[in-house]
Amino acid sequence: MKAVVFHGVGHIVLDDVDEPKIESASDAIIKIVSSSICGTDLHMVRGTMSGMKYGTILGHEAVGIVEKVGQSVKSVKVGDRVVVCSTIACGQCAYCKAEEYASCERSNPNGPEAGTAFFGGPETTGPFNGLQAERARIPYADSVLVKLPKDVTDADGLLCSDIFPTGYMGAEMANVKKGDYIAVFGCGPVGQMAIAAAIYMGAKEVFAIDVCPDRLKVAEQQGAIPINFEKLDPVESLREMTNGFGPDGVIDAVGIDAVRPHKGPATSIVDVVESALEKTAAAPLAVLTGNHWKKGDGPDQVLRWCVESVRKSGVISIIGVYPETEETFPIGKAMSKALTVRAANCSHRKYIPKCLDMMKNSQFKPSKILTVFNGLDNAIECYKHFDKREPGWLKVELTPDDTESCA
Ligand SMILES: NC(=O)c1ccc[n+]([C@@H]2O[C@H](COP(=O)([O-])OP(=O)(O)OC[C@H]3O[C@@H](n4cnc5c(N)ncnc54)[C@H](O)[C@@H]3O)[C@@H](O)[C@H]2O)c1
Ligand SMILES: [Zn+2]
Ligand SMILES: [Zn+2]
Repeated sequence: MKAVVFHGVGHIVLDDVDEPKIESASDAIIKIVSSSICGTDLHMVRGTMSGMKYGTILGHEAVGIVEKVGQSVKSVKVGDRVVVCSTIACGQCAYCKAEEYASCERSNPNGPEAGTAFFGGPETTGPFNGLQAERARIPYADSVLVKLPKDVTDADGLLCSDIFPTGYMGAEMANVKKGDYIAVFGCGPVGQMAIAAAIYMGAKEVFAIDVCPDRLKVAEQQGAIPINFEKLDPVESLREMTNGFGPDGVIDAVGIDAVRPHKGPATSIVDVVESALEKTAAAPLAVLTGNHWKKGDGPDQVLRWCVESVRKSGVISIIGVYPETEETFPIGKAMSKALTVRAANCSHRKYIPKCLDMMKNSQFKPSKILTVFNGLDNAIECYKHFDKREPGWLKVELTPDDTESCA
């Protein structure tokens, strides 16, 4: 079968690979109907999230049809249309029972302290083959697969696999309450979902910070106030627009590949020097040159803006991904401002039902951000467009059966 396979940093290939097989009684095999590319995949191809094993199939977002189930699988059956939770959790341990699925004690073969297990990730996360393929093996199928209601389209279901629950969790961790001012750093797919969730939860105003005009436009269309950080200083602007205090909650939906401003009032020489030092320290193996897979040049830029801009006693919610090697955080300033800082990988199994409820209650269609639909055959090209954040490439859907772009 066809699958997007990791060959090395900056090197991914659409390969022919063996069909997956049931390996344990709790496994299922699904035929992928639709999968997508995520900002997390970009960190791995860029090398800013290191430790990928040669031959790992990429991708952790999909909707599929169950084709086979192991003997112990009870909650899904052959023929069911399902969304896959990106994180792999056993569903049985104490953490899973507390709905802290991303902290599952059993699902990561590297042991309970190894961190979140997920599809298509570095060796420390399993490794488990991912979902940018024609078929996939799903471990702990009872916990990892969620049946989709009939009235939810494949495209909407696909975004419930990872980014919508992650954005929802980001807003929940930011403690969004009615009347709050909320800032979302990053208007990629995850940021867009955080914006939608913050508005749904009653935020009075949501500010959306990015540098890509088309992504800022989408945020504005959702009802957010856009701030281009190469035109305005985001920290000053946020303060001005919140009566001098700063937002009640800020969400980092960018992560390790953050870029710093290269022009405008927010540029500073200190930024330039610090970024150059940190870029090498946090991700020494990342790609340094070339036209594609360029890592960000301001790995702690968003963290610093979050701490500087949020009001005293405010909340910082970090959903952008940082590797364990990233150790820079302005803890002194956070302490003096009495901030609450929360950071997590998403516990998808907990948040998917909340996302389905939000869709029902507010007519929100997450698939509205799928600006490009493309067949799996075009996957590598799609990666390159998404990597460069080209206008119109906000979120890519890969459908194994289609070879024609219908964008
Ligand atoms: N916590 C989780 O479970 C989880 C799940 C999914 C994705 N993620 C992470 O969320 C992050 C975003 O994912 P995505 O798919 O939206 O990625 P993306 O790369 O498409 O989007 C990132 C956006 O951030 C913007 N950006 C860069 N530097 C910035 C800065 N200094 N200030 C403001 N904006 C800046 C970019 O222009 C881009 O639009 C990634 O780090 C991804 O790994 C986390
Ligand atoms: Zn993802
Ligand atoms: Zn568990």
